[in-house]
Amino acid sequence: MKVFVFNGPNLGRLGKREPGVYGASTHDDLVQLCEKTGSSLGVEVEVRQADHEGEMVTWLHEAADAGAAVVLNAGAWTHYSIAIRDAAAQLTAPLIELHISNVHRREEFRHHSVLSDIATGVMAGFGVPGYALAIRWLVEQAD
Ligand code: DQA
Repeated sequence: MKVFVFNGPNLGRLGKREPGVYGASTHDDLVQLCEKTGSSLGVEVEVRQADHEGEMVTWLHEAADAGAAVVLNAGAWTHYSIAIRDAAAQLTAPLIELHISNVHRREEFRHHSVLSDIATGVMAGFGVPGYALAIRWLVEQAD
């Protein structure tokens, strides 16, 4: 089993970016957590981060063709990108929509997601540790 973790725009700046909202962990810390979680469960986890929408679309196509599960934090694209939605809709394995912050406690424009109704599940507000929970769930439900 392979799990992709795809992070969208500005998430490469974790640690520096609004730490009061997103916490002190860096994107490298996030990668290490995901890889460590994957190896403890015996699955391959690959983490990528994109600031350019087309790159994310291409990665989602790759995941669809591989039949891989995806944990997707699409960042701001979550709220408006039909291109990301259309690419994510092609996935055949489970898709977890994930947000580090609890978007429902934040500005109104963050309350709407164009991904939630095509996702298997949605997680928000568990911080960076939420990625480990999402990977764990994907592996458990695949057994
Ligand atoms: C985010 C929430 C989004 O509203 C925001 O645009 C992000 C990060 C989160 O992880 O909490 O970039 O997806």
